[in-house]
Amino acid sequence: MLGVKLALSTPKPFWLVPPGDRGHLPGMEANPLSSGPQAAPGTVHLVGAGPGDPDLLTLRGARLLMNARLIVHDGLVDPAILAMARPGARMISVAKSRSRHTMKQEAINALLVKEALAGNDVVRLKGGDPFVFGRGGEEAEACRAAGVPVDVVPGISSALGASAAARIPLTHRDHASIVSFVAGQCKGLSDQDWSGLAGKGRTLVIFMGLATAAQISEKLIADGLAPDVPVAVIENATRREMRVLRAPLAGLADLVEAEKVKSPALIVIGHVAAEPDNIIRETALKTGALEAIQ
Ligand SMILES: C[S@@+](CC[C@H](N)C(=O)[O-])C[C@H]1O[C@@H](n2cnc3c(N)ncnc32)[C@H](O)[C@@H]1O
Repeated sequence: MLGVKLALSTPKPFWLVPPGDRGHLPGMEANPLSSGPQAAPGTVHLVGAGPGDPDLLTLRGARLLMNARLIVHDGLVDPAILAMARPGARMISVAKSRSRHTMKQEAINALLVKEALAGNDVVRLKGGDPFVFGRGGEEAEACRAAGVPVDVVPGISSALGASAAARIPLTHRDHASIVSFVAGQCKGLSDQDWSGLAGKGRTLVIFMGLATAAQISEKLIADGLAPDVPVAVIENATRREMRVLRAPLAGLADLVEAEKVKSPALIVIGHVAAEPDNIIRETALKTGALEAIQ
């Protein structure tokens, strides 16, 4: 009897809810009081869209996206994910690129606040995870300062999506017990202290590092890292056009140039970035299982 009661009280997963009813999920409708000055603010949902493959969206992110009337999205969000929006949803692109800002961060914050204060719920779709090099923290602060409720839906960061797609285990009992995420494009790269972030037993994942690839390898080698430490560059991770390229650390800049690697791409530095077959082979040699896998 108890089992029946529990089953009845469990909400249906969103994919079992008929599309026509999904619009009635809490927090998804435009506020009916939006026209008046006393309108209650809408909620800003900061949603991580993951690295590209729509299958890597969270269920909650997908549900919000499919029901949203207003979507404010980054350039990194894959078109296949945007195509999941309901017909007639208002889509605003605030795409940014390194050299050309379609909209400055302050203007994006102001847009989110303005729409929410007008009573509109906003799905703010961001590549990867909103709180990993995504400036989600700044957007959340701007909303909170204006009295706008914020909901944060995590996404699969490109660091995790790319490493899985490229079969690079960021940690490995035999090779890496520390993993660090850094931004390669920050101001004053040469002044940043990365000592201890890369080397034996460590994996370093660099976001936005293409333009500074030469400085990155020089900096790490100057910090004492061996020039032959394995590096993998993962371009367009989890998308159809994904590439995984490898070089020793000293050859990173040449690899990026020769292969004309384009953004978005991640650089993974450390033993785990070697060819997966080599890692399996080394582990097998250690454990004496090599004969078993040959
Ligand atoms: C502004 S950061 C956003 C990071 C994002 N919030 C995340 O968690 O992945 C943009 C950088 O993320 C990395 N990136 C995002 N999507 C990627 C993808 N599909 N493949 C490779 N790198 C990606 C690239 O280094 C890109 O320059």
